Amino acid sequence: MKRYAVIGNPIGHSLSPAMHNAAFKELGVKAAYEALEVERLDRAWEHLRKTYSGINVTIPHKVEILKYIDEREMAVDLIGAVNCVEFGDVVRGYNTDMYGAVEALKTEVPKLRNKRVLVLGAGGAARAIVYGCLLEGMKVSVLNRTVEKSDELAMEVEEKLSKRISVVPEALLDKTDILINATSVGMAPKVDASPLTSSIPSNVVVMDIVYNPLETKFLKQARAAGARTIDGAEMFVRQGAESLRIWGYDPPVDAMRRAVLKALGGR
Ligand code: ATR
Repeated sequence: MKRYAVIGNPIGHSLSPAMHNAAFKELGVKAAYEALEVERLDRAWEHLRKTYSGINVTIPHKVEILKYIDEREMAVDLIGAVNCVEFGDVVRGYNTDMYGAVEALKTEVPKLRNKRVLVLGAGGAARAIVYGCLLEGMKVSVLNRTVEKSDELAMEVEEKLSKRISVVPEALLDKTDILINATSVGMAPKVDASPLTSSIPSNVVVMDIVYNPLETKFLKQARAAGARTIDGAEMFVRQGAESLRIWGYDPPVDAMRRAVLKALGGR
């Protein structure tokens, strides 16, 4: 039986085992996916390499794992972190966050080219979203609490892709087609916080990366304004689906989403 795992520290609350095991069940595949707490990657590596066909990687190992990777896809070079590994004759590193963000957006906006997106945040998640949007041919603006970090991201993007993003000091939503919260604002337990105070026009499509709670204050604001929304479970499911594709399966996205929603509801 093939074995897969998500490694991180802490890892107890991960939704990935529920999502991937539901996928294997739906596909009728004999494979198992577990959450594994790994404190030290150097000590765990040989065991991981021997035991698993593939792993997902989360905090704090997403960058350190780069040194164990033989081959990496372009997204890894752009984002600078690995969240999916395939063990074969060689060890291949991927980053499925960029793909997850783009696929989630496409559920509401099938044609992304030339759309104007405003990304709130400039951390790891924002970085994956920004690169994904740029590769889709979108016009990207970034608004972050700490301007130095958004400036840094803009410089890095220009260096790596020779493309420009706008760093903006406020949310100008009349010039925005898609608005994304890529900060942790609104996440439990601070569920009454929102990354945006201004009102949202109804023609803007709004996405949140926060999935706990599923219905964030930010998405509530957007829905109250009549805007279409994409919740944080969508990006989570889509990045997981891409991991499965990398490992050679055809991901049953609906079953995966049902499993994630059920796991979230059970908390
Ligand atoms: P991740 O990898 O999940 O993106 P991160 O790299 O720590 O996590 O980034 C968190 C993002 O949320 C950052 O953009 C952070 O803004 P700063 O760069 O100013 O720290 C943003 N963020 C977190 N808490 C915030 C808050 N209370 N208000 C505004 N932005 C916040």
